[in-house]
Amino acid sequence: MPMKPRLIVSRQIPASVAERIAAEFECPYPEGRDMDADTVIRLLTETKADALMLTSHLKLGADVIARIPEHVKIAATCSVGYEHIDVEAARARGLPVTNTPDVLTECTADLAFMLILNACRRGHEYEAIMRRGWRQGFGLGEMMGLRVWGKTLGILGLGRIGQAVAQRARGFGMKVVYHNPRRLPEEQEHGATYFAAFRDMLPQCDILSLHAPSGPATAGIMNAETFALLPKRAVFVNAARGNLVDEAALLAALTSGHLFAAGLDVFHNEPAFDLRFAELDNVFLVPHMGSATEETRKAMGDRALDNIAAVLAGRPAIDPLWR
Ligand code: DGY
Repeated sequence: MPMKPRLIVSRQIPASVAERIAAEFECPYPEGRDMDADTVIRLLTETKADALMLTSHLKLGADVIARIPEHVKIAATCSVGYEHIDVEAARARGLPVTNTPDVLTECTADLAFMLILNACRRGHEYEAIMRRGWRQGFGLGEMMGLRVWGKTLGILGLGRIGQAVAQRARGFGMKVVYHNPRRLPEEQEHGATYFAAFRDMLPQCDILSLHAPSGPATAGIMNAETFALLPKRAVFVNAARGNLVDEAALLAALTSGHLFAAGLDVFHNEPAFDLRFAELDNVFLVPHMGSATEETRKAMGDRALDNIAAVLAGRPAIDPLWR
C-alpha cells in the first residue's frame, strides 16, 4: 500500500475534517492543536511532512518561511484572508500557498448582517437587560434603535462577500452604494451605486460595512477623517480585518455619539482586543467568527485538503495565491 502523505495541522479543527485527515494522511495530531511557529517548524522537520495546513493564527513571515524544510510542498491556509502569510517570501522559496475562497462567502455575509441588525437594534443591550432579569417595562421613547429597512448601506469592497451582503440588503429594502478600486460590470451591481472615490460615498451611508481585503491600500482606511465623513448617527460594521480601522478613532466616534453604534467581528490585536470596546453599550462584539458554522468550517477544511491533495499529486492547486 502506498504511504499516505504526511501533514501537519497547526490549529484545532472540526472532528469531521479530522476524520478525513486521519483517513487520507499521516498526521501526528489529526485533530490539530494550537501551535506556535517554532512548534510547527519542529514538527514539519521531525515528521518530514509533505504539507502544512494552517489558519490565520499562525504568522508565516519571511523568517518562518525560510525555516520551512524543503520537503514541505504546500502551505494551505483555512481562510480566505492571507495577510498572515508573506506571499512574496513563499513565492521566492517556491512554496505553493492556497486559501479557501467561495466556501465561506454566505456565512460571513450572514454574520455581517447579524452585526448590522444587532448594532442598529441594540442587540447587546436588549440581551443584557433580559439576562439581568427584566422586570420593569420601557416607555415608548426608551431603548429605541434605528430602523434597518430602507436605509442606505455603504459597502467597501463589493467582492464575493460584499455582494452576498448586498443581496441580503436588497431583501431589507435597502439602497446599496459601494466603493471598489474598479466599477463592477452592471449585471453584477444589481442596482448598487458605484463611487469611484471612497470619501465621496461616506456621507451617503446610514450604515457602512467593510468587506475589503487587508493590504497597504486599505490599512487604516477608517480613521478620524473618514469617520467624520459618515453622517451623524451612522452605524459602522467590520467583518473584514481589524487593521482597516484606526481603533482609537473608532472609539472616539462611538463615545462622542457621532456613530450611533458599531458591530465588530475583527480587531487589531486578536484575541487580545482593546477592552475599551467591551465597556461601550453601543458596540456589538463578536470574536472573529465570520466563517464559524459547522457547514462552512467543514467546507473550508475540505477545500484546504483538496488543495493539498492536488499539489501533492502533481496537479495544479485549486486556489493558488499566484499562478
Ligand atoms: C477568513 O477566512 O479570512 C476568516 O476571516 C477567518 O480568518
